[in-house]
Amino acid sequence: MAGEDPGVVITATAARGAADDGTPVTQAMETVDMSVFYGSFRAVKNVSLQFRDHRITALIGPSGCGKSTVLRAFNRMNDLIPTSRVEGRVFFHGNDIYEESVDPVEVRRRVGMVFQKPNPFPKSIYSNVAWGAKVNGYKGNMDDLVEQSLRQAALWDEVNDKLDQSGLSLSGGQQQRLCIARTIAVKPEIILMDEPTSALDPIATLRIEELIQELKDRYTIIIVTHNMQQAARASDFTAFLNMDQDRAGQVVEFGATAELFTRPARKETEDYITGRFG
Ligand SMILES: Nc1ncnc2c1ncn2[C@@H]1O[C@H](COP(=O)(O)OP(=O)(O)OP(=O)(O)O)[C@@H](O)[C@H]1O
Ligand SMILES: [Mg+2]
Repeated sequence: MAGEDPGVVITATAARGAADDGTPVTQAMETVDMSVFYGSFRAVKNVSLQFRDHRITALIGPSGCGKSTVLRAFNRMNDLIPTSRVEGRVFFHGNDIYEESVDPVEVRRRVGMVFQKPNPFPKSIYSNVAWGAKVNGYKGNMDDLVEQSLRQAALWDEVNDKLDQSGLSLSGGQQQRLCIARTIAVKPEIILMDEPTSALDPIATLRIEELIQELKDRYTIIIVTHNMQQAARASDFTAFLNMDQDRAGQVVEFGATAELFTRPARKETEDYITGRFG
């Protein structure tokens, strides 16, 4: 690892220009030589990745290698950290989200984020889901939107008779699905998930994994996980990041999940996925 420039191994031809049957595919998100700094510290170095539309891509790698930093760069959440700076390009459906003319609030609506710890507002279940749409001046039928979002988040059946109860009264797994419903309600195109199940028990975790599979018909999903089984089970593509000797995170390998987990092209990847480090 240290002293060696891992370069990037792209084995996921399907993630690039064409699907297996040759039809062209579109990328929801693409980074070109993206680096992210905190002050003078480069946390992420020259990341070039493509995230295919309506697929689930997992970001894996040891603690501190910059996974959350990468994710936050995708909806300009890093803007909220004063020392943070992004170099290189980040394209959302072909448009650079760091162009001056781009409104970060609009980016955050279209690229939603679900965090590690479920973080419902101390408000009713209904208000939690309606909140973002309300802020955005949603003109449609709010009851319908709340129901539809809760259904998509696989929570409706458990909460439809208690929508006025606090979101905080729900179990951890339900709270995380509520946060997913809240994200869905503003109709994003991409959902970023930063270790969304790490605070949940195995049953609630599987529930969320099933839900993620259902969501990919409508959304592109980028998920950070420390759980190798989860990455292997739940994602179509996987990017493995690791730190160089300056502690800057880089992409070591990117590929179709089935391939990366069964035939990793790099020894570093193999060591990580088999639990030899990280
Ligand atoms: N707000 C910040 N200010 C300064 N440095 C930061 C900030 N956030 C993260 N870093 C640094 O950037 C690097 C990458 O951090 P990041 O949180 O992205 O890693 P990670 O891969 O998500 O780790 P984990 O798996 O532990 O969540 C680390 O060295 C971290 O200390
Ligand atoms: Mg993190």
